Amino acid sequence: MASFYLTTAIDYVNSAPHLGTAYEKITADVIARYQRSAGRDTRFLMGADEHSLNVRRRAAELGLDPREYCGEMEDTFRAVWSKLDISFDDYIRTTERRHHRGVTRLLEAIRERGGIYEGTYEGWYCVSCEAFKQDRDLVEGECPLHRNKPDWIRERNHFFRLSAFGDRLLELYRERPGFIRPATRRNELTRLIEAGLLDLSVSRPGSGWGIPVPFDDSSVVYVWFDALINYLSATGYGTDEPGWEDRWPADLHIVGKDITRFHAVIWPAMLMAAGLPLPRQVFGHGFVHFEGERMSKSLGTVVNPLEAADHLGPDPLRCYLVREIAYGQDGDFSWKRFEARYDADLANSLGNLVSRITSMADRYRNGRLPPSARTGLPGLAGAAVSDYRAAMEELRLHDAATAAFRLVGAVNEFLTERAPWTLAKDPSASGALDETLYEAAEAVRIAAVLLWPVMPGSAREILRRLTGEDVEVPRLDEDAVFRADRPLTAVKGAPLWPRLAGRR
Ligand code: MSP
Repeated sequence: MASFYLTTAIDYVNSAPHLGTAYEKITADVIARYQRSAGRDTRFLMGADEHSLNVRRRAAELGLDPREYCGEMEDTFRAVWSKLDISFDDYIRTTERRHHRGVTRLLEAIRERGGIYEGTYEGWYCVSCEAFKQDRDLVEGECPLHRNKPDWIRERNHFFRLSAFGDRLLELYRERPGFIRPATRRNELTRLIEAGLLDLSVSRPGSGWGIPVPFDDSSVVYVWFDALINYLSATGYGTDEPGWEDRWPADLHIVGKDITRFHAVIWPAMLMAAGLPLPRQVFGHGFVHFEGERMSKSLGTVVNPLEAADHLGPDPLRCYLVREIAYGQDGDFSWKRFEARYDADLANSLGNLVSRITSMADRYRNGRLPPSARTGLPGLAGAAVSDYRAAMEELRLHDAATAAFRLVGAVNEFLTERAPWTLAKDPSASGALDETLYEAAEAVRIAAVLLWPVMPGSAREILRRLTGEDVEVPRLDEDAVFRADRPLTAVKGAPLWPRLAGRR
């Protein structure tokens, strides 16, 4: 069976997840579920980036030991991911022993091959970015991302020879144009490398919080160097567990546009320096804003994903984010748009369609629908499935969802045209009624299979109502096919998404 190893950024745990960090996990979950439904043996990794100074500071503010604090935050994060139905297979914390061993081994491998040397770093450091900054990175002396003045530091450090990898990185981008997506990010990074890469300090003085540098116990590993290695340590690299080579390289790293540079420049250079295979692709998604503003605690523009999921449900939230934002570009969340999409896509369109079909099936046919494939719907469903698959393979998640909703729209129109409620009054139209109900139900069943990665709980419920069966992971090759060889057993239920007008 083909396999697929997918990762997200590991989050800093100095505050609870907000809708922007949740967006990343939701979209990665859509991809992971799509891969599973396409029959690939999928490993989906998420985790926590704990060795940040911000994390230690937050713990100190609360009067907690950082380890204890990180343990509490793990519960906070896991509760959010569970509410949003994020189906990760593994969750790595950078304070875990397996990660410690992975970092130690990679650092030693790079050093043995001459990639690390000792020197002095003097320059800016932005703690919020956890990054060394050059004058050219600052705007009016401030970090443009965090709008604060970075610290000026002078330290005796260990350096990674990043500057030696510029040409190899440019060659990688040329040879594998899909290595960084979307293309705009590749162009940005190409310019960055062409401007010249500087060697990177990979240690910070101090001990107690961080992974000790294996060849210098007065220093800890620079937090980004530490964090990037999580993707490798989660395969078992550095532990005695066999088989990590079967799990590495990753097929896809999903990260935000602000940190694509770390993943598409520093990370592949680290792997090249250690002589290890490179990940197949890095995707830099855009940022979610709140009503036009950057999501920021100080501006009061942070949306709590739990609140958004409680408002209309986790699946409507997932659906909103996938439908509303072209994957790779920035997008916006507003309560008004969220409600408008809920009414349009879910209450009035998909939900209403499922209610109409299942109640007519119940009323006119006791729920039993004999098979048929005589109308235009099988063709439309087939086209939707192939558009959907092409879009998913290229990570155009929004287009994939649109293909599924286009099918839903076509079935709605089909019902309006065929008017099964009128056919039901005419005994001589009984065949036409069977045909109409079965084919509409079968097409919506296929739309639900396609929507499963986006709205897993709801799609499963729709499949149950249309077939009477419970499917845990619908398979595209078997389940997204218009079938005319078995009856459907439809069951009625309460409205999936009551109209908001009725609720207020
Ligand atoms: N710890 C680092 C990542 C290390 S990966 C080896 C980090 N953490 S973070 O908590 O600041 O961000 C986690 C992810 O959320 C990043 O991919 C970041 O780009 C993303 N986002 C943060 N704010 C976001 C939005 N407003 N919108 C979308 N994604 C956002 O960076």
